[in-house]
Amino acid sequence: MLKKIVIKLLNIFNLAIFRKRNADIIYLEDWETLNQDQNKIFQNYQKSLESSNSKKNNNLAKFSRFYLMSQFIELAIRNSVDNDNLAEVGVFKGHSARIIHNLIQQNNKELYLHLFDSFEGLSDFGSKDKEDSVIKDDKSREEMKLFFKADAVSAVSLNELNNTIVYKGWVPSKFEKVKDKLFKFVHIDVDLYEPTLDSLKFFYPRLKEGGVIICDDYNSREFPGARKAWDEYFGNEYEDFFLTFPFGGCALVKKDKV
Ligand SMILES: C[S@@+](CC[C@H](N)C(=O)[O-])C[C@H]1O[C@@H](n2cnc3c(N)ncnc32)[C@H](O)[C@@H]1O
Repeated sequence: MLKKIVIKLLNIFNLAIFRKRNADIIYLEDWETLNQDQNKIFQNYQKSLESSNSKKNNNLAKFSRFYLMSQFIELAIRNSVDNDNLAEVGVFKGHSARIIHNLIQQNNKELYLHLFDSFEGLSDFGSKDKEDSVIKDDKSREEMKLFFKADAVSAVSLNELNNTIVYKGWVPSKFEKVKDKLFKFVHIDVDLYEPTLDSLKFFYPRLKEGGVIICDDYNSREFPGARKAWDEYFGNEYEDFFLTFPFGGCALVKKDKV
C-alpha cells in the first residue's frame, strides 16, 4: 500500500524508482551531453519536442528511433525534386511532424507535408493488437487510447506551417484526398494493426523509387499489431532495403527499378 502511494506521488513529479542494475542502464542525459552542442539532429529533436509541447513524452528509446528516422528523412529529402510529397499517419501533438517540417526547411526544398490523424486518440484494439502485448487489460487499453487524444490546437498550429496540410479523420477515410499523389517519405505511427495495414496498402504502391517508409511501432512490445501488419503485407520477404531499429521501429527504402 505504502509502496503504491510513493509510486503515485513520484509519478506526479514525473519521477520513478529503479532498481540499480550493473552497467545496463542508458541515460538520456548521457546522449544530451554528447550531442547538445554539435548535433543538428539532436537540436531539431529538442526544438520540435518543445514546440509540440511534448516534453513529458521524451525518452531514450524515442530519441534513438527519431535519430535514425531523421537521417532517413534527409536521405529522402535530398533525393526529392520540388513539389514532391511527404506524409505522416499518426501525428498526435506534432513532435515528429515538426521534425520532418524543419528538415524540409533546412534543406531549402519546396515539398508538401500531408498529416493524417483522428486527433481523437487510438482506434479500437483488435485481437492482433491484444495478443502478445504487454498491455493486458481493457482498462489499460482504454487509458492508452485516450492518452493519445491530442487537443485541437495541435492540428490548427500544424496547419499553419507552410506547405503542410492536416487531414482530420480515422484512417483510411481521408487517404482518398491524396490518391493521385506519389510520396517520397511516409511516417506511419498509428500503433495498431488495422490502421498500420491500411497505411501500407495505400502508401507503399504510391511510394516513389528511393522513397522511404518508417514505422515507429515495428517490434513494439506494447503494440505488436504494427509488426503483424508489416509481416502480413510484405510476407516477411523484402525486395527493398529493410532495416529494424534497436529500440523498435523500422525503415524501408524502395528499390530503384533496374
Ligand atoms: C503515437 S501517436 C503519434 C505520435 C507522433 N507521430 C509523434 O511522434 O509525435 C499515435 C497517433 O495515431 C492516431 N491514431 C491512432 N489510430 C488511428 C486511426 N485509426 N485513425 C487515425 N488516427 C489514428 C492517434 O490519434 C495518435 O495521435
